[in-house]
Amino acid sequence: MLRYAHIVGWGKYLPEKVLTNDDIALLVNTTDEWIRSRTGIRRRHVADENESVATMGFEAARRALATADIHPQEVDMIIVATSTAVHAFPSAASLVQNYLGAQSASAFDLGAACSGFVYGMGMASQAIATGFVNTAVIIGSETMSRVLDWNDRGTCILFGDGAGAVVLRGSSVPGGVMATSLGSDGSGADMLKLPTVYRNAVPTMPSSFYKNGADVNTISMNGRQVFRFAIKIIAESVLETVESAGLTMDDVALIIPHQANTRIIEMAAKRLEIPVDTFYLNVDKVANTSAASIPIALADAVENGRLHPDDNVVFVGFGGGLSWGSSIVKWAASRPMEDRSDTRWERARYAAARARSRVRQLSRQMDAIRAAEEYEE
Ligand code: UT7
Repeated sequence: MLRYAHIVGWGKYLPEKVLTNDDIALLVNTTDEWIRSRTGIRRRHVADENESVATMGFEAARRALATADIHPQEVDMIIVATSTAVHAFPSAASLVQNYLGAQSASAFDLGAACSGFVYGMGMASQAIATGFVNTAVIIGSETMSRVLDWNDRGTCILFGDGAGAVVLRGSSVPGGVMATSLGSDGSGADMLKLPTVYRNAVPTMPSSFYKNGADVNTISMNGRQVFRFAIKIIAESVLETVESAGLTMDDVALIIPHQANTRIIEMAAKRLEIPVDTFYLNVDKVANTSAASIPIALADAVENGRLHPDDNVVFVGFGGGLSWGSSIVKWAASRPMEDRSDTRWERARYAAARARSRVRQLSRQMDAIRAAEEYEE
């Protein structure tokens, strides 16, 4: 029997440190007025040195699980959409799985730039629909501040750090994720780039291996081209998904777009011939947090009372690849009466997860000592 994937939990985490436009104007030749009028951004959060995609992803995930009132051991799958994880492996998702103590969960990172969260929703909702898993946590988490050239005023003004997460759960009740469409056009790869292989990262590397190495690990972008692509693809992707769910734009209560630039959204709204306030925007407070932007905006939208039971909400992402995607969800959850996160029980649960993880590490060390002794005998 086909299962329906419902959003039953949501959560976000934003680092404490805030960088205003005036703070950035001390670093590069720009002004608060220019940034606000061209992008809508007023400030962004920046991770401190002890924070990472995995630690922030864990914070967002534990809040999402608390909202859903679901124990981490019930989670079957964890996806972290990101482009800024500390390691290629272990995946940030594996680290989150360990922090949560979600022992039954598979875990992997997903790379689709700013579209990553919608791609993750697509993968997880299909896995739920076919009965492959029942409970999935989809996280978007980014430390964009670590991949910016802070001398480049064309990019460093745009991005911020943070994480958001949702819990998707299977149910026989119709609703939840009703349709998803995903797309990619690699011919636009040059428009938005973040190299991961650094030319000088391995000093012992033979020079003939350098061909794929980039000079710097920072974002480069053709802003105007990305701007035009974004307006066109938001309108096309949203329409495709809404139609494939058998609905029209009149049935859509709210669109939560990737938060890149207020002007992009204003022009996309014009193209779709809908009021701009059909789109939920929080780019002014958090800037562009890439794969994290949609789940952070979703948590904000729920907090601000913008979603009601039976609303049809559309998520739409676009970015590097080029990649894009959207999904339409029938909203069924209501806000819990009390904040279930950060209770004494919750703190104890995650302390126990850390302790269990430490015990497993110690037992692996004991095994290694025993195996070495047996080998010598
Ligand atoms: O997740 C997707 C990520 N990417 C995006 O969303 C980016 C989409 N693109 C954009 O949001 C816009 O293209 C930007 C905000 C990046 C730039 O806005 P624009 O209106 O397209 O400006 P522009 O690049 O055409 O530059 C106009 C002028 C230039 O000066 P000249 O050549 O006209 O003298 C730039 O040098 O603005 C200048 N400029 C700035 N001035 C002050 C560019 N950046 C800045 C700045 N402060 N930060």
